[in-house]
Amino acid sequence: MQFFLDTAELAQIEQGIEWGMVDGVTTNPSLIASQGDAYLPTVKKIAELVPGPVSGEVLATDYEGMMEQARKLADLAENIVIKLPLTPDGLRTTRTLSQQSVKTNVTLCFSSAQALLAAKAGASYISPFIGRLDDLGQDGMQLIGDILQIYRHYGFDTQVLVASVRSPLHVVKSAQTGADVVTLPFSVLKKLYRHPLTETGLAGFLSDWRETGRNFDD
Ligand code: E4P
Repeated sequence: MQFFLDTAELAQIEQGIEWGMVDGVTTNPSLIASQGDAYLPTVKKIAELVPGPVSGEVLATDYEGMMEQARKLADLAENIVIKLPLTPDGLRTTRTLSQQSVKTNVTLCFSSAQALLAAKAGASYISPFIGRLDDLGQDGMQLIGDILQIYRHYGFDTQVLVASVRSPLHVVKSAQTGADVVTLPFSVLKKLYRHPLTETGLAGFLSDWRETGRNFDD
């Protein structure tokens, strides 16, 4: 399963890359707005940092506007994936871009029916938002299983990119279900490393050795 970082913060991306845990990045307008910088230059900087796919979202909502912004995003770097909303115009744009071999990520997916439409439109990735479904008292993870079952049934190439991830459990369940990609807030990536027994175990090993008064290479 691939790990993408769900952020527009360059320092977080640099740290994740240093740890060797970043296969790609997803951004959205809210994440970019939180950085206070200009839109396209922020996406460009991220694409230059990351060796893998970087999703940059269009802001337009009509087909012509989305196509124009998609071209500008695609011109930024070769690893840009055009992120489009799951609307009739968004999927029409997805189809056109897919026919032009431009990679797409269809976002704001909340149902299997929507995921089926995205696959039929030729999306490279579908982004079901599981945390936002959980917030409503629905089972976000169930949606991932349902979409994977449908896609396998018909042999769609669209990759399932689990989005709106809130916890390590979401990541583990995504892996157990067989999702292709999970996009993580940096806070969740950090939590994946942590276990209290790892921390107390390491502290114990080090203090036992310190008590000998000897150094590593004595
Ligand atoms: C995915 O591409 C989105 O950027 C993201 O996962 C949204 O998550 P949120 O529900 O935490 O805003």
